[in-house]
Amino acid sequence: MTEALLTVSGLSAAYGQAKVLFGVSLEARRGEVVALMGRNGAGKTTTLKAIIGMVEASAETLRFDGHDIRRLETFRIARLGLGYVPEERRIFTDLTVHENLAVGLRPARSGRAPWTLDKLYKVFPNLAEMEGRRASAMSGGEQQMLTIARTLMGNPDMVLLDEPSEGLAPVIVEQMAEAVIAMKAEGLAVLLCEQNLHFAAAVSDRAYVIEKGAIRYAGTMAELEANDEIREAYLTV
Ligand SMILES: Nc1ncnc2c1ncn2[C@@H]1O[C@H](COP(=O)(O)OP(=O)(O)O)[C@@H](O)[C@H]1O
Ligand SMILES: [Mg+2]
Repeated sequence: MTEALLTVSGLSAAYGQAKVLFGVSLEARRGEVVALMGRNGAGKTTTLKAIIGMVEASAETLRFDGHDIRRLETFRIARLGLGYVPEERRIFTDLTVHENLAVGLRPARSGRAPWTLDKLYKVFPNLAEMEGRRASAMSGGEQQMLTIARTLMGNPDMVLLDEPSEGLAPVIVEQMAEAVIAMKAEGLAVLLCEQNLHFAAAVSDRAYVIEKGAIRYAGTMAELEANDEIREAYLTV
């Protein structure tokens, strides 16, 4: 059995005196889309931030691609190939779509075919159509797509996606799902924080459910969809 790409065990985190995560464990393999589901305030965002060193945290295991990342700075973790797309859009609103993508370009690590603009525009056809548009003139959903596309230009092996479907129109949610599926097809691993079960179910292989900073359930996405008790207890349905 090969080691998972990302292995997290016993991850705890706090904001000052307020403890928020209590021994979270999860893993993701190459090419796997894993959902981290839970209601508002359950600890999804904090889990992502704790993994990449953006909040005060401790862990028994925090390994990415064979590296112990527990004491690494956030930018060094990114350079190992772990991308992060926060809930809030991170783009340069004065730059065009094309310019935003060019800014994100970093060389691929060995053994992986790098993302090119052509390949990205196939995954995000709507971005191709507005290549020359300033990001300030895009809708929130389009900006969210651009944030993800820019992260891919950094050629990560895995992406942490924080609620990408939140607040998007249904047609954009559909495009977002297709983009996540295309990322998986490229061999990327994705850890996807979500409250939207329909979206998560459309793209994910496995799911974890978090509540009050602890993992309450782990299983395949199909098992979670079939489990009324867990869904009613921990998810918004
Ligand atoms: N910057 C912060 N300072 C203090 N508490 C926070 C901060 N960010 C989040 N929290 C608290 O941590 C808990 C988990 O929040 P979060 O990880 O954002 O949950 P989720 O992403 O699942 O909605 C919540 O109780 C929230 O109020
Ligand atoms: Mg959140």
